Amino acid sequence: MENETKGIIDELKQKIDVYLHDYMEEKGSYNKKIYESMQYSLDAGGKRIRPMLFLLTYMMYNENYENVIDIAAAIEMIHTYSLIHDDLPAMDNDDLRRGKPTNHKVFGDAIAVLAGDGLLNEGMNIMFNHCLKNNDKNKIKACSIISESSGVEGMVGGQTVDILSENIKIPIDQLYYMHSKKTGALIKASIISAAVYAGASEDEIEKLNYYGKKLGLAFQVKDDILDVTGDAKKLGKKVKKDKNNNKTNFITTYGLNKCIEMCNSITSECIDVLGRINRNTKNLEKLTLFLLDREK
Ligand code: IPE
Ligand code: IPE
Ligand code: MG
Ligand code: MG
Ligand code: MG
Repeated sequence: MENETKGIIDELKQKIDVYLHDYMEEKGSYNKKIYESMQYSLDAGGKRIRPMLFLLTYMMYNENYENVIDIAAAIEMIHTYSLIHDDLPAMDNDDLRRGKPTNHKVFGDAIAVLAGDGLLNEGMNIMFNHCLKNNDKNKIKACSIISESSGVEGMVGGQTVDILSENIKIPIDQLYYMHSKKTGALIKASIISAAVYAGASEDEIEKLNYYGKKLGLAFQVKDDILDVTGDAKKLGKKVKKDKNNNKTNFITTYGLNKCIEMCNSITSECIDVLGRINRNTKNLEKLTLFLLDREK
């Protein structure tokens, strides 16, 4: 990434990391364990792609991002909850995440379930409090977009289809549904919610919606590719686990080469549509290209 862009990306990542860490500090009494467990997964070192997308989109309209860092952090809490649950023995049964033992390996299944529940609720609490302080329809709408994207018609719905698709071949439209919901929904919502919050025009929202949809799909296809070609040390999670879990995904349907081709062409479409928005989309473009080339 170019220096200037890397500068802002590093700055945002650090702000998000600090917010998330501090949020859990010195909280709790008899329930302190749950804060420890939530903090463990938040501090484990995620890429912070979703909060970054939220902030970079917001910054196309308003440079002063400090007042929305809480919403960005709420999105990361929701995402981290989804990972803790995704790793549980009842789901993907993984023992490595973000380079560390998974939450349930350290805290046990029951606390890991509760840590996921807790992160989801804290994310919602942050957004409600934000809206109570800033009573404005666009802000409420933005938070509602995030909330819906993580629910049954979004991430939870996609995860449901993922689990039901183990060991079977599914039709292509169902495969697209699965990827666009389990991963795409929250990614797209991170972008659109920021645009709505900032008061973007209908035309801009339409273009960003297309961008978010494509980016979310490319992101999960790349995740599937990395499961085959990636290095566990760099990824911070195990590889070949989709095959071992008999997952149905883009790789099992199209094969590796076609998936790589798809990722490239979808990324080009993302860059094209950003170019058609009459604002400074440079940082979003850089992040989009970084996601295509990522090794983790
Ligand atoms: C991993 O998400 C799970 C998917 C939704 C594909 P990320 O690749 O964003 O994971 P972290 O947050 O950086 O650990
Ligand atoms: C996870 O997809 C998607 C969500 C957590 C919502 P995967 O199961 O492919 O993610 P990884 O590979 O374990 O990170
Ligand atoms: Mg999974
Ligand atoms: Mg998984
Ligand atoms: Mg995966």
